[in-house]
Amino acid sequence: MSRSRVLVYRELPPDQLARIRAEHEVTLADPSLPEQEAAFFEALGSASGMIGALYPVGSSLLARAPALRVVSSVSVGLDAYDQAALAARGIVLCHTPGVLDEAVADLLMGMVLAIGRRIPELVEHVRTGAWARHVEPDLYGWDVHGKTLGVLGYGRIGHAVARRAALGFGMPVLYCARSPRASGLPGGAARQVSLPELLSESDFLVVVLPLTEQTRGLLGAAELSLMKPGAFLVNAGRGAVIQEDALVRALDAERLRGAALDVFVTEPLPGESPLRTHPKVLPLPHVGSATHETRHAMAEMATSNLLMVLRGEPPLAAQPVRPQP
Ligand code: DGY
Repeated sequence: MSRSRVLVYRELPPDQLARIRAEHEVTLADPSLPEQEAAFFEALGSASGMIGALYPVGSSLLARAPALRVVSSVSVGLDAYDQAALAARGIVLCHTPGVLDEAVADLLMGMVLAIGRRIPELVEHVRTGAWARHVEPDLYGWDVHGKTLGVLGYGRIGHAVARRAALGFGMPVLYCARSPRASGLPGGAARQVSLPELLSESDFLVVVLPLTEQTRGLLGAAELSLMKPGAFLVNAGRGAVIQEDALVRALDAERLRGAALDVFVTEPLPGESPLRTHPKVLPLPHVGSATHETRHAMAEMATSNLLMVLRGEPPLAAQPVRPQP
């Protein structure tokens, strides 16, 4: 088998890099770093494969990649890729579903607990030396157990969160999905409802939707106004599913008690974003899958996908290539 050029545009663990190097010539270049941008575009001209994450791959980039056969994303989300442009060129787009579900669900439950029990504020209370006497009701949190958890986006991650909430915390679970879907949990532990019901009945609303044309801006002022007064919003899907200005207004109006956000419209979060310092927001730097074990599993799956396509084999997970019009 002939060796091809592979462009690695986001850091990979050494063992996975070695697997690629055993079969192909590798160029390491991250186009989001100004000092590596030129090397990235030079290698792109002869690359048969690309592996990385979170860098927009659209038609102008593809025009500079005449030999490209596969883009292997170290992510489950594919919103950074122009799927129509890739399909039009017959380029296979691979991703890593399945291996990150439990890690993202762990973090989501952590966000629910952190915001409900006010853990970051209480840590600050101790660190700043303000803990001089016992904590008064102004710093009490709210119960998590027994409260209603709503899941918007009942895929693999949504189901993993529902399982933790229902079986571990005794939370009644509601979920909303486009089509009728069995809860996959013991009888009655989770119930499918409409979006308005989900919004009005959830004490903690967990959003795990991918970003598509249907989900972009889905939660705006009208939807947020349907949420139960005093509810918490938790998002680890994609930032642009929520209209951020409407969310800030709902928090300022004390309609919502708080929001825990792992994803934002613009990442990294710009300095001027009110979400960075808002007292009712717990912001995280897009770390749903960021554990040593899970990021390694994602890199391993993405590497396998890349090598399989370059060998002419079907990958473990790819977007179907749509027929050209
Ligand atoms: C994913 O896999 O899509 C995560 O959000 C990390 O980018």
